[in-house]
Amino acid sequence: MARHLITSALPYINGIKHLGNMVGSMLPADVYARYLRQRGHEVLYICATDEHGTPAELAAKEQGLPVSEFCAQAHDAQKAVYDGFQLAFDYFGRSSSAQNAELTQHFARKLKENGFIEERAIRQVYSPADGRFLPDRYVEGTCPHCGYDKARGDQCENCTRVLDPTDLINPRSAISGSTELEVRETKHLFLLQSKLQGEVEQWVARHEEEWPQLASSIARKWLTEGLHDRAITRDLDWGVPVPADTWPELAAEGKVFYVWFDAPIEYIGATKEWADATGGDWKSWWYEADDVRYTEFMAKDNVPFHTVMFPATELGVREPWKMVDYVKAFNWLTYYGGKFSTSQKRGVFTDQALDILPADYWRYFLIANAPESDDSSFTWEHFTATVNKDLADTLGNFVNRVLSFSRKRFGDDVPAGGEPGEAETKLGAEISRLLAEYEEQMEALQFRKAAAALRALWSAGNSYLEEKAPWLEIKTNPEGAALTLRTAMNLIHLYSVVSEPFIPASSAAMRAAFTLPDDTATWVSADEARALNSVPAGTPFTVPPVLFAKIQDEDLAAYKERFGGEGA
Ligand code: 2FM
Ligand code: ZN
Repeated sequence: MARHLITSALPYINGIKHLGNMVGSMLPADVYARYLRQRGHEVLYICATDEHGTPAELAAKEQGLPVSEFCAQAHDAQKAVYDGFQLAFDYFGRSSSAQNAELTQHFARKLKENGFIEERAIRQVYSPADGRFLPDRYVEGTCPHCGYDKARGDQCENCTRVLDPTDLINPRSAISGSTELEVRETKHLFLLQSKLQGEVEQWVARHEEEWPQLASSIARKWLTEGLHDRAITRDLDWGVPVPADTWPELAAEGKVFYVWFDAPIEYIGATKEWADATGGDWKSWWYEADDVRYTEFMAKDNVPFHTVMFPATELGVREPWKMVDYVKAFNWLTYYGGKFSTSQKRGVFTDQALDILPADYWRYFLIANAPESDDSSFTWEHFTATVNKDLADTLGNFVNRVLSFSRKRFGDDVPAGGEPGEAETKLGAEISRLLAEYEEQMEALQFRKAAAALRALWSAGNSYLEEKAPWLEIKTNPEGAALTLRTAMNLIHLYSVVSEPFIPASSAAMRAAFTLPDDTATWVSADEARALNSVPAGTPFTVPPVLFAKIQDEDLAAYKERFGGEGA
């Protein structure tokens, strides 16, 4: 069996993420990792906060904290939310780790050795009052196009035009406000990606047929436009320092690597952090790791970096580092058709979501509506309808109805009696067919279709129960009612196993209802699914508290009021 390495795009450190970020990277990665683990594969799921760069410096400044302290706190805050969502990372690291710095410097040295990095002089804004070069977005001024007086040197937030700091009227430093700015020449490291174009093309060609169309088409588009050499260093205090042994002059000037250079390397860095914390073998996952299948999860804006730019870096290093096998890319989740926006605080943030309802509600809704082939829209109406119908009615109600009724009529053990007949044979065949469909969609990383198959498994239980109607059966044929309820309880146990990747907490509650020796969430074979007899008569059980509470009309109104409904 292959070993599976799974990563999801590293969430940027500067704030709690919204539901759109969650559904486009970490959540599907977690669902996939959980599924593979249950099926007995060796899995390593790695993620981390992406901590370097200007936005981190600016966010720290806003909070009046040293950037290292800000990042440490913000990392813990994000980690707490991900724990709340039950994201089962093997490790959630930090791109500011020593491990990442060491690897990033190693990659840069190798790229230089191989002729893919050179120093070039560029002209950049310098602020004598601040004693530093200013990154584009640290220069503020009046937009030459619309007159907005807080335009940033990279872009005007008001008219969205892309700017160069030298375009600004009355430019000033965003740090000190100083207007005595100069343009000075300074040296930076450039990654000569243009030299690697051919190799990246060949590598993409070997993968693009297998990748989802979204990933392949973005990779192709970037390759068609051509890979350009680009600066991979910045004048910031916060970042991986340029190594002094290789570039003494730049190191003395305090240059650090650009955040997009070190961030993807942190996938490896975080694996090293994991190994240092647990004694694991990081290298076998990343170096000459031909037996590893590597799947990455990300939203579409990240695709160029992961299909073209980071591969160029890895190829240029000329060492056998593991490259991605499969890129699972997502479109956008919108909020009522508009953008979720961290900066404009529109939409639902992951911490708010957990304040409102348990993680499983969100996990199920988001994956069942993942923006796979197109953008998809979050609305409170759709969320409410999905939770109430699929989770509360179809699954939750089934579980409670069966267990409560059986306890009332037959006591605290799974009832004995009755022989499976035609209805059970039909049910078994249906269940094993749907399970096969579910497995096929999960293997293909088609999450919406997998969710539909899971929902169909839940529905099959309801249809069976309606057909057999044990509440009537009990009056004339108590043995038959016992058989029906025992079969339904076996369905509950099956659901607890196969629903685990989507709704781990509820699945655990369902499984815990039965006192079975050595019960684990190990996957169910087609034969076991068909037989529906892994919970034998006599097994003690309890009735768990209601699994999913329905969202009431007044709740819906309150959510819309709080977060803004349509037109938000
Ligand atoms: O888009 C983002 O939010 C980036 N922080 C993703 C980085 S992914 C990886 F390459 F590090
Ligand atoms: Zn403007």
